[in-house]
Amino acid sequence: MRIRTIVATGAGAALMLGLAACAGGGAGSEGGSSADATSGGEPAADAGGLIGVAMPTQTVERWTQDGEGVKAGLEEAGFEVDLQFANDDIPTQQQQIENMVQNGAEALIIAAIDGTALSGQLQAAADAGIPVISYDRLIRDSDNVDFYVTFDNFKVGVGQATSLLTGLGILDESGAETGEKGPFNVELFAGSPDDNNAGFFFNGAMSVLQPYVDSGVLVIPSEQTEFNTVATPGWQQETAQTRMEDLLTGSYVGTDLKVQGVLAPNDGLARGIITALRNNGYPETIADGFPIVTGQDAEIGSVKLIADGVQYSTIFKDTRNLAEKAIEAAEAFLAGETPEPNDTETYDNGVKVIPSFLLESEVVTADNLESVLVDSGYWTAEEVASGQAS
Ligand code: BGC
Repeated sequence: MRIRTIVATGAGAALMLGLAACAGGGAGSEGGSSADATSGGEPAADAGGLIGVAMPTQTVERWTQDGEGVKAGLEEAGFEVDLQFANDDIPTQQQQIENMVQNGAEALIIAAIDGTALSGQLQAAADAGIPVISYDRLIRDSDNVDFYVTFDNFKVGVGQATSLLTGLGILDESGAETGEKGPFNVELFAGSPDDNNAGFFFNGAMSVLQPYVDSGVLVIPSEQTEFNTVATPGWQQETAQTRMEDLLTGSYVGTDLKVQGVLAPNDGLARGIITALRNNGYPETIADGFPIVTGQDAEIGSVKLIADGVQYSTIFKDTRNLAEKAIEAAEAFLAGETPEPNDTETYDNGVKVIPSFLLESEVVTADNLESVLVDSGYWTAEEVASGQAS
């Protein structure tokens, strides 16, 4: 997986940075000193500068891919990279960013653990004139965030909820209502409250689901519907599994009710929820009556569950493209320019609206898994079959 991602991202980055790479005739030389840059003829902009890349954790597959992808692309462009993962520990991430500033990083690319906990570190970065790119998750409560690259997170939630309705048969493939009125028993889960994305995912999803709750097509037997009640601190899979078990015990066991659908905000939580349902004797597959469970990230373990007819959907966010956008932004800043946003309204971090570049995501089900994930080279057919990244 690691190598495949690097190759894919490196190739993408090389395309994107085609001019610089060609002009440099062997850019990406180790150390990338200015001597290297000039000896190639045309100097690559700021080749050799150190860029700090701070990622939250390696326990969620995507962050490893993101980190390695950003690193490979930056190295390809001739930069040095300090890539750090913080094990989902806020003080560790704060310390890592402090070190990056002290070690002379010329730009920072940060996927924050707690979006509100980095103000001090970012002030130090600003004092040293270091541009900060917020990666995937918005960094909040700081003036010192220069650009934000992410996916359209509200639309991710819309996609999750729409697929839940499609899986239940309330909508057809074209998104039109089928006339199916249920009622269907569903339960809601949200991500970590300290992650700014989690609210966007949940609000996007509820913008689609709420009318069906209001009209009685969807019923939430637990009556747990508030973001803070359904949130999952730290995006912990075990927490989601335990909450699903508690919901079953509290609202289903001993009644005639069965869970028919679950809004799961990402694949890790979906797998925790699926385990809880399996442990409670739910059927093996959707075809046999297993509930419709959503997800996000196209993690290989969940992609296999989708192929096996257990998990209904995931959201594919091509992190290779996100890595490219972050690299592009860092390059622009280091060349004394400003990266081009495509959204200057949505992401207010509490101090100011951060100019953002939003990428699109895609709903994946068993029907389009191959064309979206395999044909694009994101996963190979063998990886999907085994459920393991190679
Ligand atoms: C990301 C998701 C990820 C989640 C948990 C969110 O900020 O956008 O892709 O599943 O964090 O790591």
